[in-house]
Amino acid sequence: MKAIVASIAAAIAFIPASLAVAVNPLPAPREISWGHSGSVKIDRDLEFIAPANTILTNAIKRTNKMIWKEQWVPQAVEKKPVDYPPFPDVKRSESITLKKIKFSVSDLHADLQAGVDESYTLEIGTGSTGTIKSKTVWGALHALATLEQIVISDGHKGLIIEEPVTIKDEPLYPHRGVMLDTGRNFLSLKSIYRQIDALAWSKLNVLHWHIDDAQSWPLEIKAHPKMTKDAYSSKEIYTHTDVKNVIAYAKARGVRVIPEIDMPGHSASGWRQIDPKIVACGNSWWSNDNWPAHTAVEPNPGQLDIIYPKTYDAIKSVYDEASSIFADNYFHVGFDELQVGCYNDSSYIQDWFKADPSRTYQDLAQYYIDKAVPIFQNKKDRRLIMWEDVVTSADIPAKNVPKNIIMQTWNNGPNNTKVLTAKGYDVIVSSSDFFYLDCGFGGWVGNDPRYNVDYSPPLDASISDAFAADPTTAYSAVSFNYGGNGGSWCAPYKTWQRIYDYDITIGLTKAEAKHVLGGEAPLWAEQSDDTTVDSKVWPRAAALAELLWSGNRDSKGLKRTTQMTSRILNYRERLVGRGVGASPLMPRYCLNNPHACDLYLDQTAVTGPAL
Ligand SMILES: *[C@@H]1O[C@H](CO)[C@@H](O)[C@H](O)[C@H]1NC(C)=O
Ligand SMILES: *[C@@H]1O[C@H](CO)[C@@H](O)[C@H](O)[C@H]1NC(C)=O
Repeated sequence: MKAIVASIAAAIAFIPASLAVAVNPLPAPREISWGHSGSVKIDRDLEFIAPANTILTNAIKRTNKMIWKEQWVPQAVEKKPVDYPPFPDVKRSESITLKKIKFSVSDLHADLQAGVDESYTLEIGTGSTGTIKSKTVWGALHALATLEQIVISDGHKGLIIEEPVTIKDEPLYPHRGVMLDTGRNFLSLKSIYRQIDALAWSKLNVLHWHIDDAQSWPLEIKAHPKMTKDAYSSKEIYTHTDVKNVIAYAKARGVRVIPEIDMPGHSASGWRQIDPKIVACGNSWWSNDNWPAHTAVEPNPGQLDIIYPKTYDAIKSVYDEASSIFADNYFHVGFDELQVGCYNDSSYIQDWFKADPSRTYQDLAQYYIDKAVPIFQNKKDRRLIMWEDVVTSADIPAKNVPKNIIMQTWNNGPNNTKVLTAKGYDVIVSSSDFFYLDCGFGGWVGNDPRYNVDYSPPLDASISDAFAADPTTAYSAVSFNYGGNGGSWCAPYKTWQRIYDYDITIGLTKAEAKHVLGGEAPLWAEQSDDTTVDSKVWPRAAALAELLWSGNRDSKGLKRTTQMTSRILNYRERLVGRGVGASPLMPRYCLNNPHACDLYLDQTAVTGPAL
């Protein structure tokens, strides 16, 4: 088939046989060693011998189609001083032809659930048969994703692998994901499928689907057909069939779909259609302009009423139905950003406080946990995830949250990971300082006088004094200036380096580090929909993918960010070639001239010290 994929690839259709070409798969495998006997030609009728398994058979078909269609020519090739991987100067005889790849999978039935074995070995030796060995189908899928990245064009419509190669690979962390939000703005199924493709190519294995939010309710709930009156339109609804198709598409690619219904905060749309009394403060002014009276941290307000008894009937019927559609044992039940001010609006809650003046907001949060968690725990192997706020919120944490609930941390960087793991919680790291993909795009609320200035305002003297005394405290004051964060609460934009360089277990004891299951990069969707999702997620999520699969360090424990540069530049071209609108990271010049665009000439500027 003609190389319709990499438009760029066409420009460099010829690789001189003497030039060592560095294939640079992302994520870098845990162990990869190259032979020295010259390139391996791929037979036109390359045969895959695999056990009977529909998912594996279909994945093989996709891979076979992909490599011939893609005809990949490495784009960003490392040169000295950082050769990766180091190819010796050898005569390329192409005497070896790969005719078959033989799979062996020891357990064909292991389900795609948390912690399933994803390891594999891939060996392309000097014989005509290569081997892929894995414990599970899911490991075999990762092997195929690697294979797709080591097969390259020979410059003449044929394919080669640069040298015989042996790869032994498995992830550092079992939980590696991206969170998409379809409550703020809708995403079409096509966009969701495209994200799943790219997750799988990157060996990310979780799509965390934040389905609804206060703004809209796009999920069909047959028990309450009125809920989708609060979808953005009758076309912007996910039916049960849609959801099942997404799950099947993702499973076929080794990606788990973990749903989130955020409760009791961020809840208005949908719920209010069941019974308006379920939703507290849904009609209030959100009041950022008079902060002590605020009922929400962003418009529109609304939280489930914790004391109104019928709230729990609604939660149970919605949750039972939603959790019956999704296949994963994990379910995310939210608890993001509950605001105490919202509950001034609830006579049920105010009466409950009056009935016993010793009651606090912590008691209120605990009341919710005690009532809701047994509803959520609706099957034996169900595991719940909550945003960390349920434990770490300053105003309204619960007193006693079951230790088997996984905490997703987003505040205070490593500090909260430490706080939560020290308490014994398993943790998913989504630090907003490092992993949030929506930061740095400016403010999105309307009627905002902060932009109504023609000259950069001078820093207020009290702010600059406070800033000098303590940069962390004064930061938020400074940042709401015109010259500050431009209205994006979590500015600046998180570059791929910010993501890649973050050591997610820093400061933890060995025992605490064991509680870190992995990480997720969230894309909150106030300013994102089908038109932007690709460019906001990719290629940055690929930096997270490598961080969580094989880490950000080399075998000596030194940061390998500078080597990753050419890897991610290369990978971005590949994503674009495969139809994902991944952002450019640098001028093409920098891709063609490795290290010409480095900030420092010193190639150890980012490496040390070893952890
Ligand atoms: C809620 O009531 C408390 C006590 O009356 C008051 O201090 C607080 O400002 C009120 N909050 C809102 C959002 O109205
Ligand atoms: C995190 O902990 C460090 C070390 O104890 C401390 O210096 C820093 O202020 C803390 N940061 C935050 C955001 O809490």
